[in-house]
Amino acid sequence: MSRRGVTPRSTQVAIIGAGPAGLLLSSLLAREGIDSVVVEKESREHVQGRIRAGLLEWTTVELLREAGISERAMREGLIHDGFDVAFAGGHHRVDLKALTGKTMLVYGQNELQKDLAEARCEPGAVLWQVRDVTLHDWENGTPRVSYTHAGSRHELRCDFLAGCDGYHGVSRAGVPRQRITQYERVYPFGWLGLLADVPPLHEELVYANHERGFALCSMRSRDRSRYYVQCSLEDKVEEWPDARFWDELRLRLPERYGARLVTGRSLEKSIVPLRSLVTEPMRFGRLFLVGDAAHIVPPTGAKGLNLAAADVRVLSRGLIEFYRSRSATLLEEYSTRALSRVWKATRFSWWFTLLMHRISADPFARRMQSAELEYLARSAAACRSLAENYVGLSFEEL
Ligand code: APR
Ligand code: PHB
Repeated sequence: MSRRGVTPRSTQVAIIGAGPAGLLLSSLLAREGIDSVVVEKESREHVQGRIRAGLLEWTTVELLREAGISERAMREGLIHDGFDVAFAGGHHRVDLKALTGKTMLVYGQNELQKDLAEARCEPGAVLWQVRDVTLHDWENGTPRVSYTHAGSRHELRCDFLAGCDGYHGVSRAGVPRQRITQYERVYPFGWLGLLADVPPLHEELVYANHERGFALCSMRSRDRSRYYVQCSLEDKVEEWPDARFWDELRLRLPERYGARLVTGRSLEKSIVPLRSLVTEPMRFGRLFLVGDAAHIVPPTGAKGLNLAAADVRVLSRGLIEFYRSRSATLLEEYSTRALSRVWKATRFSWWFTLLMHRISADPFARRMQSAELEYLARSAAACRSLAENYVGLSFEEL
């Protein structure tokens, strides 16, 4: 027992947050015999119950395989070779496989969250429902995390801190303002998402640009669908009974797809705001910001989870190199390497959001969108650029 009833404990890497970034990092380190402790403020059930996106780039699938956590995703996930862009009553298929040689895996983030938590269920690896997490001395000296768990105060000493605690976490919030530069774009609309146990209207995803607003037809399996419509940020979920949602969705789709829409009772309905945010740098002494703790992308390009995994890939290689050879080269390059991918994915998500959403009533802006969509449908070069960014740039291309 040390300071004032605080139970000291030590580990090599203390990880704040048990979302996809924190748990995947913990698993990759464990495979290399590197000790870590994850502290999470919510319960395991709560974290697994969050309805989020569900589209994995192949580099993310490969990282899951490296961590030994890809078996169920590969068994139950759906491999997609392409997707559709719908506009002006028609649609154009983007053949990802033909254009890039790569595919995507449709696998719900909450299912992935279950696999990640299952992989770290040894006692003491993840502390759920911790309170009042505070980070100390990450600039110089021995980093520490203090927190309350099961009613008593604890202190975790470590070599490194990984801030995987998302946008609302304590990691980025604890860095002095003058040390951080934030780049932000808030979009003047949201996404209303609906989950229902109905068969998807198409075997691949459909992104629809329509004068009434954007719509997305996605899925979790062959009998569970996930749909989104662009809505106003003032809207309330209560103002969108299921019937109104289905009617509006059908109106925004080409007739051929609208006619195939199977409707049903919603299992979940929620509104998310759209924002682009990048924090520079992503490292402060022995504190590393990872995933949503450092950057947010609008969901249009499904890059959020995949960017978090990409950060984890760069950081895990740096930590593994450090514990193997005491070389800190990769750790010193973490921020630059991670940001290189973050900015490319942020640009793509911003561009795809502006292309596919109703931004304003300005007729010129609408014509620019239609002209770009028609160009996309006719130009192999434009389509390849969309496909390359959609499947995610390989680490060599960065
Ligand atoms: N103390 C402990 N845990 C915390 C704290 C805190 N003060 N604040 C937040 N957390 C936890 C949250 O409860 C959450 O479980 O940190 C975790 C952060 O997880 P995510 O928000 O999922 O962030 P990340 O792991 O970076 O994953 C990013 O997941 O949410 C999607 O859209 C997001 O796709 C993106 C990806
Ligand atoms: C989803 O399935 O929830 C999803 C898919 C693709 C996106 C965003 C969300 O771009």
